[in-house]
Amino acid sequence: MEVLRTVGAMRAWRKAQTGRRLAGVPTMGALHAGHARLMAEGRRHADGVVASIFVNPTQFGPNEDFKKYPRDEAGDLAVCEAAGVDAVFMPTADEMYAPGASVFVDETKLGAGLCGAKRPGHFRGVCTVVLKLFNIMGAEVFLFGEKDYQQLAVIRRMVRDLDVDVEIVGVPIVREADGLAMSSRNRYLSVEERANALGLSRALKEAAGLARNGETRAEALRCEMRRVMEAHALRVDYAEVVDGETLEPLDVLKPGCRALVAAFCGATRLIDNSGVLEGLEWMG
Ligand code: PAJ
Repeated sequence: MEVLRTVGAMRAWRKAQTGRRLAGVPTMGALHAGHARLMAEGRRHADGVVASIFVNPTQFGPNEDFKKYPRDEAGDLAVCEAAGVDAVFMPTADEMYAPGASVFVDETKLGAGLCGAKRPGHFRGVCTVVLKLFNIMGAEVFLFGEKDYQQLAVIRRMVRDLDVDVEIVGVPIVREADGLAMSSRNRYLSVEERANALGLSRALKEAAGLARNGETRAEALRCEMRRVMEAHALRVDYAEVVDGETLEPLDVLKPGCRALVAAFCGATRLIDNSGVLEGLEWMG
């Protein structure tokens, strides 16, 4: 497995893979089984896999966890190696951003609500770095997790609206045995917080249960999700039911609709989401 730390080295490696279709997996490191699943899925879509590990400063707000975001280079490279990754792009922030960089990518609709409303500038940072990674890594297909459902929707929109010549594949959420969605930020949780964190996936299960029993009002699901999360001592950021493609809030449930939640567990902000009428296999 090659470890490439500069844009030049990454491009030279890609160029040498003549005739090979590549899958790209952008990450911020602190890798877990969710990331490994994206890499494994990448193998199914291409002849080789290139991952990136870069904690992107431009997608963190001034009061967010950029400085303390978990960094574990040796552990991350071991995960990539075990997942059969061919090359890892690991640049520094100076390598990625020229001094005085002044061009950014702004998606203006799908990224405005939900996490975008609570984290101004977040999706601008994500879109900008993801487009740069598309250009640098040179893969034909890129994989993103449904764990960050809004991010996936925003990236699909960017690719559509800017005619970016890559294929985007979304990968279902990988969960712990008890239902907690895997996340690099789970490392921050104390034992007590880890127990409370189950409130997010339980809220999604209860919402789907209401729908299964005939509830059609999205508002009833929102209220139930808030109730469950608050019962787990979580501070609710949002509990929404939206159209799975446009991310517009719904009044009445419909096929393809999606429930999304965000909540603070102590100081840690966690997110989760699920289909409401379909894609409920994970609920057991
Ligand atoms: P990061 O949080 O490291 O996630 C990298 C990729 O792994 C994302 O596509 C995310 O959705 C996916 N992922 C994370 N946890 C997952 C899980 N439990 N199941 C399935 N997929 C999961 O998302 C980012 O980094 C950054 O915003 C990035 C796209 C790299 C841009 O900086």
